[in-house]
Amino acid sequence: MPLFTALTLFLACDQGFVDPSREYGPPVPDAPAKVSRVHVPTSLGAVDTPRRDIHGAPIGVSCATCHAGPGEDAIVVGDNGNPEQMHGTIELLHGGLACDACHEPTDRRLLHLADGAKLEMAEAMQLCAQCHGPQARDYQKGAHGGMTGYWDLRQGERVRNHCVECHAPHSPKPPQVQPAPRAVDRVVFPASETH
Ligand code: HEC
Ligand code: HEC
Ligand code: HEC
Ligand code: HEC
Repeated sequence: MPLFTALTLFLACDQGFVDPSREYGPPVPDAPAKVSRVHVPTSLGAVDTPRRDIHGAPIGVSCATCHAGPGEDAIVVGDNGNPEQMHGTIELLHGGLACDACHEPTDRRLLHLADGAKLEMAEAMQLCAQCHGPQARDYQKGAHGGMTGYWDLRQGERVRNHCVECHAPHSPKPPQVQPAPRAVDRVVFPASETH
């Protein structure tokens, strides 16, 4: 009989945890770390048109379709080059900056840093970081800007958001929101009073 009990216990223990979620997962193989990459939105390099692709996403036209290097802009669209006709009115609400604080005046496909160094549109984050050091540092450490994918880079890759996915470069201030009414407090208004 004691033998039987011992055997039962032994077998029962071998079944592992009653709650399977408490089991240890398989050991993570010491795989080479996957990359952490920044997603580059299409707005950095193309303007959306009203046309949509099969997924419903707007089809973009590359900046380079119309803009080229100094003095050689490819085409001037119908309206005698009036930017308001092409790009609409751009209202700049960004700390009193001038357009050319960010855009390269001689090549509209590019941005530039304060020292004049030209920057591809896709690298706009360096431009933002130049003036917003604390946020860029927080971003580097993962405390600003969010992420999807894996913390553990051995398991899979991580994708970070680009600054301009959350902050419109021409008007970065988050809009004011209407505060929601407070929740009905069960202590201040006990159920007997509210029902
Ligand atoms: C379909 C053609 C077209 C496309 C695509 C296009 N632009 Fe333009 N853009 C124009 C025209 C036309 C003007 C006005 C004439 C000019 O300044 O060259 C203009 C003007 C501008 C200006 C100057 C605005 C001002 O008020 O001084 C900037 C900056 C600019 N574009 C940037 C871009 C960027 C960045 C992209 C891509 C994200 C882009 N454009 C895509 C046609 C285009
Ligand atoms: C803080 C930097 C910054 C300043 C200042 C700025 N831009 Fe831009 N601009 C950008 C970035 C970055 C983009 C790329 C588009 C995006 O990500 O939304 C852009 C895009 C554009 C485009 C392409 C089409 C569009 O609407 O997205 C035009 C045109 C443009 N800017 C014109 C201007 C004009 C005109 C001014 C001044 C009134 C200006 N920008 C000031 C950073 C700036
Ligand atoms: C040349 C310097 C400069 C560059 C480049 C720049 N900014 Fe700014 N930014 C400013 C200034 C100045 C303010 C205004 C600060 C204030 O009003 O307190 C500001 C304000 C902001 C704010 C806060 C708005 C608010 O009022 O809460 C955000 C968000 C922001 N910028 C994002 C960006 C992003 C994203 C980029 C890159 C596309 C960028 N900035 C590039 C100078 C810059
Ligand atoms: C996932 C969205 C997201 C991304 C990506 C993001 N931010 Fe922000 N950012 C926010 C939100 C939300 C706030 C407002 C939170 C707050 O006030 O604490 C903010 C606030 C800011 C402010 C204003 C801070 C203040 O105290 O007023 C600046 C400047 C800024 N972000 C710059 C950047 C820069 C530069 C990048 C890229 C390196 C970036 N952000 C990427 C969401 C984002």
